[in-house]
Amino acid sequence: MKIIIVKDQQQGGEKALEVFKQALDQGAEVFGLATGSTPLTTYTELVNSDLDFSQKISLNLDEYVGLKADDPQSYHAYMQQHLFKFKQFKQSYLPQGDAADAQAEIQRYNELLTKFPIDLQLLGIGKNGHIGFNEPGSSFTEQTRKVKLTPSTVAANARFFDSAADVPQYAYSMGIGSIMRAKKILLEAFGSAKATAAAAMIEGPVTPDCPASVLQQHPDVTVILDQAAAAKL
Ligand code: GLP
Repeated sequence: MKIIIVKDQQQGGEKALEVFKQALDQGAEVFGLATGSTPLTTYTELVNSDLDFSQKISLNLDEYVGLKADDPQSYHAYMQQHLFKFKQFKQSYLPQGDAADAQAEIQRYNELLTKFPIDLQLLGIGKNGHIGFNEPGSSFTEQTRKVKLTPSTVAANARFFDSAADVPQYAYSMGIGSIMRAKKILLEAFGSAKATAAAAMIEGPVTPDCPASVLQQHPDVTVILDQAAAAKL
């Protein structure tokens, strides 16, 4: 793992932009994208850059089960608001939260991931070490699936909803197996709330108890941490 420690999230976004630029220079065609507060500065940097994604494909990690694409709390809406509205991609895919048939939706997404192998996957990390919505205990080999969110993840994400009761309990998420197939991975973590998870990911044992620890086994991972998130290394 290559660890880059920056002053704050703003500087983290600037470093992340360099990683995207380098991936494009090396011919990357498919980008795996993430949501949450962590990648916000990265998306601002991408939007303000002259990087051209108009012939590139993107695939997002996850989406809440039950939310329509136009629901303001959906990850579709998040991506629209923070990136796609400003930066054109050739085609962008997310799991469809309101799909009538969960199995068919999972199969559709897995087929997309096979058709478009990810060159650069952007990740955040949950306070409990989850990546995507792969909570502690998740298998390291699974592909896209429907997952039940842990109470701590529901609580952490409640800030984006009117109340905790409104947070969906299930999500579609790329599995850890899907994430590990990406050619290159860029994980960002900012703030002291991520310090324990970051230390477990980088220095702890490789165990499903900390899903992100699997990244120690990936050949090309860059981790960008601010000083607060790096405090327990
Ligand atoms: C959510 C998302 C993850 C994200 C994590 C951290 O559960 N599914 O992809 O990395 O939360 O979110 P934040 O960046 O807001 O701290």
